[in-house]
Amino acid sequence: MYRRAFLTTTVLAAVTAMTSFGLNAQELPKLEKKETYKVGFAQTESNNPWRIAQTNSMKAEAEKLGHQLVYTDAAGSAAKQVSDVNSMIAQGVDLIFLAPREEKPLIPAVMAAKKAGIPVILLDRSVDPSLAKAGEDYLTFIGSDFVEEGRRIAEWLIKNANGKTKIIQLEGTTGSSPANDRKKGFDEAIQAAGGFEIVASQSGDFARDKGRQVAEALLQAHPDANVIYAHNDEMAIGAISAVEAAGKVPGKDILILSIDGGKEAVQAVVDGKIAAVVECNPRFGPKAFETMMRYANGETIPPVLINEDKFYDASNAAAELANAY
Ligand code: AHR
Repeated sequence: MYRRAFLTTTVLAAVTAMTSFGLNAQELPKLEKKETYKVGFAQTESNNPWRIAQTNSMKAEAEKLGHQLVYTDAAGSAAKQVSDVNSMIAQGVDLIFLAPREEKPLIPAVMAAKKAGIPVILLDRSVDPSLAKAGEDYLTFIGSDFVEEGRRIAEWLIKNANGKTKIIQLEGTTGSSPANDRKKGFDEAIQAAGGFEIVASQSGDFARDKGRQVAEALLQAHPDANVIYAHNDEMAIGAISAVEAAGKVPGKDILILSIDGGKEAVQAVVDGKIAAVVECNPRFGPKAFETMMRYANGETIPPVLINEDKFYDASNAAAELANAY
C-alpha cells in the first residue's frame, strides 16, 4: 500500500518536474553523430545465465566497436537501478541502455534521462506504456515478444498434454513486463483451448531457489497438479528439484515447461526432465549498438524491435544444445 503510494508520487513528480523545466513532452533527445560513444548499460541483476549472456553480449559488442561502456548492476533493486541511471546521467553518457526491472518504478529514470537530454533504449523489459512512450520519452524497445512466448509454450502443451491438464504457474518478478506478458499469453491460449485448469499461479521472482520453494508448497497444496509452467529456466530448474522431492518423476508424472533456453535447461530437455522451452534470446549487443548508430545517422527508429526466439523440445534439443547460450 505504502509502496504503491510512494511509486505513484515518485512517477508523478518525475513527469511534473520534466514539464516544469520547459521540456516539450513530445521531444526525444537527439544523439550527436560521432565515431564512438560513452554509453551506459543499466542491468537489473546478474543472478542467472540469461542476464550474464545479455551482459556479455553488450560488453563484447561495445568493445568490438570501440565504445566506452559504463556498466551497472542493480542487484535486483529497482531503487538502485534508478540511482544507477542518475549516476550515468551525472557522468555525461551519450545514451543509456536500460533493462528496467519493473514496469512502474523505472519511469523516473526514463524521465530523468529525457530531461537531461540523453536518449534511452529499453532492452528486454519494458516500462508502463501509460506513463512513458517509445518515440517520445525513450527511443525504442528492443526485446522478445513476451506475450508470444507464453502463447507458444501454451500451444505446445495444448498439442502434447496427453491428459495432463492441471497446471501450476510459477510467475516471474511481480510488476515486471515478462511476468505480466508471459502470464497473459499463456492464460489466454489455455483458456481458449478449454479442458485445462490453472490450479495455482504464484511468483517465484525468476529465481531458482524461490521457484523451488514455491513449487514445493504448491505441489503440497495441489497434489493432483501434473504440469508446471515456469516463466524462466531458473524457476523451472528449481521446480525439477521440488518435483523430485515430492517423490515424483519430472517429464513422466509432471510436465515442466519453461522460457529462456539456456544450456542447462536445453540439457534438461535432452534428459527428459523439462518437456519444452521457448528461447528468450539474450544476444542484444549487435542490434542495440546498430540501433544507436542508425539513430545518430538520422534514421527513424520503429517503437518496438522484436528479437527472434527459438523453441526446444525432444525433437530438436540434442541437435541444438551446442547453439544454446
Ligand atoms: O526479461 C527477461 C527475463 O529476465 C528472463 O526470462 C529472465 O531469466 C530474466 O531475469
